[in-house]
Amino acid sequence: MVYTRYKRIFEYADHSVDVVLIANRDRVDPNFFYLTGYTGGLFESSYAILYPDLHVEVLTSRLEADIARLGPHPVHLPDGYTPAEWMNALRRLIGEASKVGVNFKGISHSDYLALSEGLQGKTLVDVSGALQRARLVKDPDELERIEMAVKITSETVNSVPDLLREGMTEKELQAKIEQGFVERGADSPAFQSIVAFGENTALPHYSPQNRRLRRGEPVLVDVGAKYRLYCADQTRTFFYGGVTQRQRQMYEAVLEAQNAALRLIKKGAEGRAVHLAAAQYIDTTLFKGKFTHGLGHSLGLEVHDGAGFGATSQLVLDENMVLTVEPGVYVVGEGGVRIEDDIVVTQEGYRMLTTTPRELTVVG
Ligand code: GLY
Ligand code: MN
Ligand code: MN
Repeated sequence: MVYTRYKRIFEYADHSVDVVLIANRDRVDPNFFYLTGYTGGLFESSYAILYPDLHVEVLTSRLEADIARLGPHPVHLPDGYTPAEWMNALRRLIGEASKVGVNFKGISHSDYLALSEGLQGKTLVDVSGALQRARLVKDPDELERIEMAVKITSETVNSVPDLLREGMTEKELQAKIEQGFVERGADSPAFQSIVAFGENTALPHYSPQNRRLRRGEPVLVDVGAKYRLYCADQTRTFFYGGVTQRQRQMYEAVLEAQNAALRLIKKGAEGRAVHLAAAQYIDTTLFKGKFTHGLGHSLGLEVHDGAGFGATSQLVLDENMVLTVEPGVYVVGEGGVRIEDDIVVTQEGYRMLTTTPRELTVVG
């Protein structure tokens, strides 16, 4: 199967490389899975090579060979497993190619040194930008997997109001959410779940602890399922046992900011302008200056999958990009609100993937 993604990688690299070599060695590189299409597994110490006639071959070890052969690509093993034998095998596979594209952002320094020495006489060219750009626009099979990840996530987030109990800990709620993911068909959480009660909701990247839930407090869940390697990422802020006027104002400010951003989203819109629409709206409210991060990010094999919406963003939206839209307001010592949804960009606007209601929800 010839993937259009292969063409895009060479095109975005300005055809300045003869082959692309992805090393899934010291570090996991999602681009290995992007090129091979494998939907799971570890593929430790493996390489994927993309050739200009748009096919991929895999170099791996005995440990991974059988699972690798389940895919459509030719699979090779080195003659032995010393560093020199790995490099000999790579040289055979790379052949006459002289410019070898490598993901400089995904490779450890020691792997870089090993490749430089092992492939002496060839030039290593950074193709990290081309890979990132290719991955922004999703192919149909990627969209299917993201949609499944988001469906599982939204259904689980929809169940959160029924899971809340006075006195439960943040970690207990985290465990129930992650169990809900697996029961609904997820492979794992896509990232470290954020579950925060009360004043902890003001910390955007908080890790759940043993803080117990009390009535009258906000509950923020920022969670995502992973399905066949693709990520979802959704946030809701609920109010347990009542809501104050100030909490309501905070929620409405964030919701209106999200609406202001969503109104601008379509093919051709600038990521910076979409971010500013939300940020400028928040600055007209009581919560001026309290939106402290970018509005959202691309979603895919990684939860932060490349470019996104932000004050310095260069991104121009295109059809079939998948992004989060996640304004927030954070008042340290008091609490915060974030609302995060996942969308697919279309010609005329966007398709909302998340299905959880966005209006203020008071539980219990
Ligand atoms: N879950 C982290 C984020 O929303 O970016
Ligand atoms: Mn999130
Ligand atoms: Mn996010």
